[in-house]
Amino acid sequence: MSINLVPMPNEFHTDYKLFFRRNILESITVEYDSEYSAEEYSIVIDDKGAAVKCSTKAGENCAHQTLRQLEFGYSGNIPYLTIHDKPAFSHRGFLIDCCRHFFTVEELKKMIDAAALFKFNKFHWHLTEDQGWRMEIKKYPLLTEKGSQRPYSNFGRYYDSKPYGGFYTQEEMKDIVEYCRKKSIDVIPEIEIPGHSSACLHAYPHLSCTGKEVPVRTHAGIFKDILCAGKEEVYEFLFNVIDEMTAIFPGEYIHIGGDEAPKDRWKECPHCNRKMRELGLENYEQLQGYMLNRIYDHLQKKGKQAITWNESLRGGNLEKGIIVQNWMEKNDECTIRASQGGKIIVSDFFHYYVNYPLGMTPLKKTYMYEPIPSELHENMRKNIIGVETPVWTEFIDNFEDMSKMCFPRMAAVAETGWTNRDKKDYVDFKHRLTYVIRMVEEMGLKYPDVSQWDPRFLQSAKQVIKFAYNMYNKETVKALRK
Ligand code: ACM
Ligand code: ZN
Repeated sequence: MSINLVPMPNEFHTDYKLFFRRNILESITVEYDSEYSAEEYSIVIDDKGAAVKCSTKAGENCAHQTLRQLEFGYSGNIPYLTIHDKPAFSHRGFLIDCCRHFFTVEELKKMIDAAALFKFNKFHWHLTEDQGWRMEIKKYPLLTEKGSQRPYSNFGRYYDSKPYGGFYTQEEMKDIVEYCRKKSIDVIPEIEIPGHSSACLHAYPHLSCTGKEVPVRTHAGIFKDILCAGKEEVYEFLFNVIDEMTAIFPGEYIHIGGDEAPKDRWKECPHCNRKMRELGLENYEQLQGYMLNRIYDHLQKKGKQAITWNESLRGGNLEKGIIVQNWMEKNDECTIRASQGGKIIVSDFFHYYVNYPLGMTPLKKTYMYEPIPSELHENMRKNIIGVETPVWTEFIDNFEDMSKMCFPRMAAVAETGWTNRDKKDYVDFKHRLTYVIRMVEEMGLKYPDVSQWDPRFLQSAKQVIKFAYNMYNKETVKALRK
């Protein structure tokens, strides 16, 4: 028995015999019941309308999204039904990279509306990068004055000779936080430490190891100039930036980066090497662990949790309380972390990165991915706290293209995040989604036709070749060679 809802509720019954024939959204009663957990809700639909039970605003919002989908799909003919529902995972996130390309507050709100429809509850906002710093910090005005601007953009096919820039004022970020709060979505802002920080170093070169001029980058890549881990002024800077961030973002989490940070500059740096000696650290990965632990410590004093990307585990000294986001683990480092009690968010590159074409990551591949490693002991499975799907925007320069990459795959991650594994069924999901996804079009988003969701082999091969071809132009190839 199925019904056109995404994600599929965990307990659901209808016999499709009797129908509610008015607008269900105008006939809702809500009763708060403290027996329910945070996002848990129940709905009974009968001749009186929809009777909702929950214990929090988040539960009420989840019920509301279910009712919106029912009104959209069955308007005037909603079967009498009962639903009792709660999520499989507490963390159900989507990440938007607003640095490689910038999206307006109004565009982000459309994405947030669509994410809320599928019961996502975390918006991971990627705000600092090599190609642009996008977050206003009043104490350090050059971060946005200089760091939010690049002279041109050279992302392969997306070559654009015009200067490119943009940032969010503190008022705009607070507006997004409030918009999300009403939908029970926490905003997780990300500041990249120590790598992916060219734009920051362009604004304040003394924060790098060499102190030399660093450009805001114009092309994709991993860059060697990173924040110095040896200079105390870098920590002072980061603490000050984080203090402003915590005043804007009231949520529990701040993401502090930690991915793709080459150690070339640190190896040559007297400050970094002195810090290593003083602390008795054995290698530069441990120095990264030390650096992020200090930021974590500062966040803890403010009652906040830290999240880092999985590379930060490599020194073996990352504080146990830091949540690790697994995008591409090595040597089962995240599974081992979870088996020792560490909390993990799953964002697997090959399954959950929706910035790659459907020919590489088709809908079925995203849907079928099981975020809990089979080798993880049953008692430790609770340490996989959830799933998150990123859209990175090196090769996406406008909102319409972004929404076409996000949908339908975001809905697949949403269902994995919400619906218990034994209730998931791909064929049924795809069928349900063909109805529900029309709602995102009404919200001003675009998605590809259902015939493209799981491309055949030849179509896939063509898409992958085209994507790879479009990543490069003469100048990017030259930069890569260098
Ligand atoms: C990442 O994709 N470097 C997190
Ligand atoms: Zn240094």
